[in-house]
Amino acid sequence: MKNGFLISSVLIVLAAFQAAAQGPEVLIPAPAEVTMNEGSYKFEEDPQITFVSRPQGDMPEESYILSVNARKGVTIIYSDASGQYYALRTLDQMTAGGTIRELPCCEIYDYPRFPYRGLHVDVSRHFRSIDFLKKQIDAMAMFKMNRMHIHLTDAAGWRMQIDAYPLLTGLAAWRPERLWKDWWAGERRYVPEGTPEAYGGYYTKEQMRGLVDYAAQRHIEIIPEIEMPGHSEEVIAAYPHLGCAGEAYRQGEFCIGNEDVFRFVETVLDEVMEVFPSEYVHIGGDEADKRHWKTCRKCQQRMKEEGLKDVDELQSYMIRRISRYVESKGRKIIGWDEILDGGLAEDATVMSWRGTEGGIAAMKMGHDVIMPPGRYCYLDHTQDAPFKEPESIGGYLPLDTVYVYEPLEPSMPLDKKHHLLGLQANLWSEYIPDDEHAEYMYWPRAMAVAETGWSQPENKDLMDFRRRAVMASDRMRSLGYNVFDLENEYGERKLSRMPAEHKAKGCKVLYNKPIQKQYPASGETTFTDGIMGGWTYSDGKWQGFLTDIDVTIDLGSVMPVHYVGGTFMQLKGPGVFMPEKVEIHISSGGVTFTPLAEVWNDVSTEIPDLLFRSFDTVCDVRTRYVRFCARRSTMRGFLFLDEIIVN
Ligand code: ACM
Repeated sequence: MKNGFLISSVLIVLAAFQAAAQGPEVLIPAPAEVTMNEGSYKFEEDPQITFVSRPQGDMPEESYILSVNARKGVTIIYSDASGQYYALRTLDQMTAGGTIRELPCCEIYDYPRFPYRGLHVDVSRHFRSIDFLKKQIDAMAMFKMNRMHIHLTDAAGWRMQIDAYPLLTGLAAWRPERLWKDWWAGERRYVPEGTPEAYGGYYTKEQMRGLVDYAAQRHIEIIPEIEMPGHSEEVIAAYPHLGCAGEAYRQGEFCIGNEDVFRFVETVLDEVMEVFPSEYVHIGGDEADKRHWKTCRKCQQRMKEEGLKDVDELQSYMIRRISRYVESKGRKIIGWDEILDGGLAEDATVMSWRGTEGGIAAMKMGHDVIMPPGRYCYLDHTQDAPFKEPESIGGYLPLDTVYVYEPLEPSMPLDKKHHLLGLQANLWSEYIPDDEHAEYMYWPRAMAVAETGWSQPENKDLMDFRRRAVMASDRMRSLGYNVFDLENEYGERKLSRMPAEHKAKGCKVLYNKPIQKQYPASGETTFTDGIMGGWTYSDGKWQGFLTDIDVTIDLGSVMPVHYVGGTFMQLKGPGVFMPEKVEIHISSGGVTFTPLAEVWNDVSTEIPDLLFRSFDTVCDVRTRYVRFCARRSTMRGFLFLDEIIVN
């Protein structure tokens, strides 16, 4: 049935495409320079292509000139093997995989803006098949992406065969629960390979070598990531002596005071580097819980011996030592931006995910940087209205937001610009159990990352990109990809698209409890700026509190008031809940307040979906001051409020 559908859709596509010649206007990423000429070139069979290789240094790396001439046909001049390959990818897009037999005469001169154009795959939280990885590599190649970063190890499962430590795959690659969220909510245990019903998997070295070759043929390098010192629960479950307590299921961080840890990591990296010939090895470095090290005798001893003043420096000691080891093998490390804490290892490349500040700091210090900032490049956030999308980790990252990201920021020193290697789309897979779902999360958003990585900024245009992305999505669908339907995008929360008009708009707000640092939105004007929040609490429109909210709005003069209300958001996953109740008080003079309404919550804290609920009252009063107090629920999570409407 599935095949029948595929074949017929290909035939339809063929018929439609054959009707018209298409040229560079379909290309993703947009090429650097295009000249359109009169006429077209028709070919009966596969086109005869004349290839011309240019001496090294004549043209930028990875570049090509592709000419279509009515008489001479197709000529490709290229700088290197990658340039030649990318010229063929361009031809492939213009001919829709060879199904179009007529091309307009044109000349395309093309080269990448950034050398690093990456896609990240998390195979730990949910295991991915080799076929899936190859399929994504094919799609990456189509859009001239050139690095696949594969997150091979994490608490949810170790995924690569390591001969010296067989329990990594004999135990730490398997768990009782298929879904990460069930495993995480449960006891977070591992089970021996072969346990009936166990979920998991790992790649043999032979499979990984095969994947490396497959990618290399498509000019893509695979960068393996082996996490340390945090995110290593699964290793410590298999080899408990590598944790401070010497016991499984106690912590996720390696004991940095223990020499066995270095023996372990170096041996693992030896085997990893033997399989992956990549320039870089990613060593993680993010989100370590450093508290264990403060009370561990061995860690304390290490700090004393090495003169390390705190646990940040202890982590940095490990990263530096491993970095030196990796360099002694002729490779370089990449680490998440936490590797800046406690001192950055010499020659380390920083992958800046918590924002771009870490990356910018590293550039200023003369380090290379890759940008997958969460706000723009974390494809695990939902790409459309959460009510119509599969369950996700939360957040909202539509194609447009990914596309408008500009990696070169004004605060980056121009003389250090060359340290900005490029950008990457990251896809963490906690809520993405199936390969097809992962594919859906990548495409078309990864096309936006591909274009930002390759195209010159002056050639970028959002509306034109959307047009091309719709065409490219159709093409991908015809090739069997599960792609988000851009043409039926719902978009941002309707209420947040237009300013709200009401009596309190622009009025002064007095905070009886202070604004908190983490989610300040636009500070004291947030609740009366007429701006309603969108699908995510991190959009800068929602103000977040880990306390009660208690504010007084001054309407400027006594006036009739018929409505007071504010909308709260609930999202159980990250601990965002409705208030237990909202109390509204009014006052004409601002000194003595009388209660106006008490609105109790009636939304269950158990509902996993994103919810909005207005806490409001209809009234008939005259007042100048309105005090709005939201009591936090017993869940003790965040309160998020965007606007207080008074009418
Ligand atoms: C990360 O997202 N923890 C790198």
